[in-house]
Amino acid sequence: MPDIAADLVDQVGKALGGVLDPEIRKPITELNMVGGVAVSGSGHATVAVKLTIVGCPAADTIERDVRTAAAAVPGITGVSVSVSVMTREERAALTEKLRGGRAARAQQFGPDSLTTVYAVTSGKGGVGKSTLTANLAVALAERGLRVGIVDADVHGFSIPGILGLVDESGAAPRPTRVDDMILPPLAYGVKVVSIGMFVDSASAAVAWRGPMLHRTIQQFLGDVFFGDLDILLLDLPPGTGDVAISVGQLLPNAEVLVVTTPQPAAADVAERSGVVARQTGQTVVGVIENMAGLAQPDGTVLDLFGSGGGAEVARRLSAGQEKPVPLLASVPLSIPLRAGGDAGAPIVVTDPADPASVAIRAVAEHLATRGRGLAGRKLGITVAEQ
Ligand SMILES: Nc1ncnc2c1ncn2[C@@H]1O[C@H](COP(=O)(O)OP(=O)(O)O)[C@@H](O)[C@H]1O
Ligand SMILES: [Mg+2]
Repeated sequence: MPDIAADLVDQVGKALGGVLDPEIRKPITELNMVGGVAVSGSGHATVAVKLTIVGCPAADTIERDVRTAAAAVPGITGVSVSVSVMTREERAALTEKLRGGRAARAQQFGPDSLTTVYAVTSGKGGVGKSTLTANLAVALAERGLRVGIVDADVHGFSIPGILGLVDESGAAPRPTRVDDMILPPLAYGVKVVSIGMFVDSASAAVAWRGPMLHRTIQQFLGDVFFGDLDILLLDLPPGTGDVAISVGQLLPNAEVLVVTTPQPAAADVAERSGVVARQTGQTVVGVIENMAGLAQPDGTVLDLFGSGGGAEVARRLSAGQEKPVPLLASVPLSIPLRAGGDAGAPIVVTDPADPASVAIRAVAEHLATRGRGLAGRKLGITVAEQ
């Protein structure tokens, strides 16, 4: 006679394979978070769940999903979930597993990584760098890519707000930590970490010194569990300061997107940010012009910030290069784009037909289909000896 209860234990176990930890985005069975499954003769299942940390914010979701998954197994008449917390050893084994062989604190986006890293820079602030970074990331995630953002704009962090990762007071929630590992929250399918998640309030002024900045960026690249990403976008502070230099040192393989306004006078500073990136070995992959002409109801176009700045920066950055630096898009001024940023609802999702959305999605398409850049990567080619 087949052992019905054992068979049900098996099936419940399989069903739990479909329950994801909402922060780590992996099945709880793979994370060794299921401590055991028992099924009584009457079909009542008891599932022991081990959370990573005490007060895990995802506890309710996990418990509910476990209950639903187990209850859906034919033959199960009821479900009890008992929740405990992993031991220190179990947690260490988990973080070790998530790092996939990488040493603790080691950088995860070095030259051997399969992730394409784009550093988004600009000569000056207020040109729409963060707005474009956030919308671009969401557009890439919508195409099915695994995308992360590191908001490294120490003084003007704004990515959490643009992606709606803020509470009523405007502050970004602190990410969950599992020992040394920081779990980045997910917004519109994008894993996000921001300096703003580690300061006390949205308006907190942080006095940063160079070495502290360097360590923070290093920590973001080492301790944040991004998992396997296709694309990582870095929102850098404007200009060519300490963060840009740290990122250049830590990620010489990063490729650079330069954002500028159409103002010809802005071209100088925008060009400089590209040139400095190159000095650390990074490649400039393109220029995005933002705040271009605003279409008026009568059909005319209002060039509030002039025109031609993007093409000019691309032309200058192309000088002396083997491959010209393209102007990837000219994103028009758009009230919905601005309002979406203020509301934490990116318009590539909420208003995909807006001309600014269309332009940003075209950049996403370009980045998604251009293939991996090989700049700074070891190609693993060996020359056969004759
Ligand atoms: N194309 C655009 N049309 C209208 N407003 C824009 C556009 N791009 C950005 N903005 C707005 O301009 C302001 C500055 O943008 P932001 O992304 O914070 O710039 P940066 O990161 O370069 O400092 C924000 O209020 C944003 O909503
Ligand atoms: Mg910004």
